[in-house]
Amino acid sequence: MKYRSLGRTGWHVSEISFGAWAIGGAWGDVDDRESLAALHAALDGGVNFFDTADVYGDGRSERLFARLKKERKEKFYIATKAGRRLAAQTPEGYTRKNLTGWIERSLRNLNTDALDLLQLHCPPTPVYYLPEVFGILDDLVQSGKVRHYGVSVEKVEEALKAIEFPNVQSVQIIFNIFRQRPAELFFGEAQKRKVGILARVPLASGMLSGKISRASKFAKDDHRNFNRHGEAFDRGETFSGVDFETALQAVDELKKLTPKTISLAQLALRWILEFPAVTCSIPGAKRPAQVSENIAASDLPPLSPATLKKIGAIYNSRIKPLVHHYW
Ligand SMILES: NC(=O)c1ccc[n+]([C@@H]2O[C@H](COP(=O)([O-])OP(=O)(O)OC[C@H]3O[C@@H](n4cnc5c(N)ncnc54)[C@H](OP(=O)(O)O)[C@@H]3O)[C@@H](O)[C@H]2O)c1
Repeated sequence: MKYRSLGRTGWHVSEISFGAWAIGGAWGDVDDRESLAALHAALDGGVNFFDTADVYGDGRSERLFARLKKERKEKFYIATKAGRRLAAQTPEGYTRKNLTGWIERSLRNLNTDALDLLQLHCPPTPVYYLPEVFGILDDLVQSGKVRHYGVSVEKVEEALKAIEFPNVQSVQIIFNIFRQRPAELFFGEAQKRKVGILARVPLASGMLSGKISRASKFAKDDHRNFNRHGEAFDRGETFSGVDFETALQAVDELKKLTPKTISLAQLALRWILEFPAVTCSIPGAKRPAQVSENIAASDLPPLSPATLKKIGAIYNSRIKPLVHHYW
């Protein structure tokens, strides 16, 4: 496992880290014992950074980390998020009282005195034009309840606005073979300001593992069933916003150019690592075997220029018209 600097925090985090949404909920049935085994496998493989949120399984995901901390001695970082407990997403909801309340709850779930990294959880765009919200976050750092803060965004423009606030240490954004626009302008701006980038949904919700087919069935409570068209939250969070049929066709082409010695999931994760602006990707995983496969991508050699070119061509011809200017 290789490590990269996260913003100006002084932390060196695993370039393949771990996303803990699926082990909380909204991805079909999960078993806490298996989820904990996946978290242990991540630590065993050198992962030292985990992304969760207060709403994943209504705290179930955060509480698994409190258990993990009891079972392990080594230091690891936990990034959590706040904002999605609001009944309706309005900028007026991002008050001192609400933010403090959400944070107190995360502190209890995680059984800790201070959050390592707190991210605003895809707030509505006007929040990025409310300096007072970032002032509240500064106060929470001052008070010692939060060590650092960042944002998780839907759109490139929100990311560009967020990094105008000098104490934003990280931006979490969808970045994968199916979502390439962040690399055009935003990555350079983030690097100039030494802001870390967490590449989320790196496998396009599992689509870029190559295991999903036209016959795949998803449980009722799996967002790959109930949010394909954005019925519950931003449609870009499910399969990266690419319709199922187009995604499958692009995956078939990607399989053809994947070197025989690696899996498509590893190709997808390796592709992200070719961008030095990215601090880490945070693939979700429910089982130890998925974790081991994913983290092995860090030790693979870089992809060849010819492979990168072919990936670019698949994106340009099949995916770009469907996603590029939407986020
Ligand atoms: N708004 C936000 O801030 C936001 C939104 C989305 C995600 N995130 C964060 O980003 C993280 C990553 O995104 P994501 O979990 O949505 O999507 P993802 O990482 O693209 O996909 C994860 C899913 O793919 C499958 N998978 C993982 N590794 C695999 C492998 N090696 N082979 C086959 N299948 C594999 C697993 O599901 P199955 O086994 O069920 O197929 C897993 O849950 C999340 O966990 C969360 O921490 C944040």
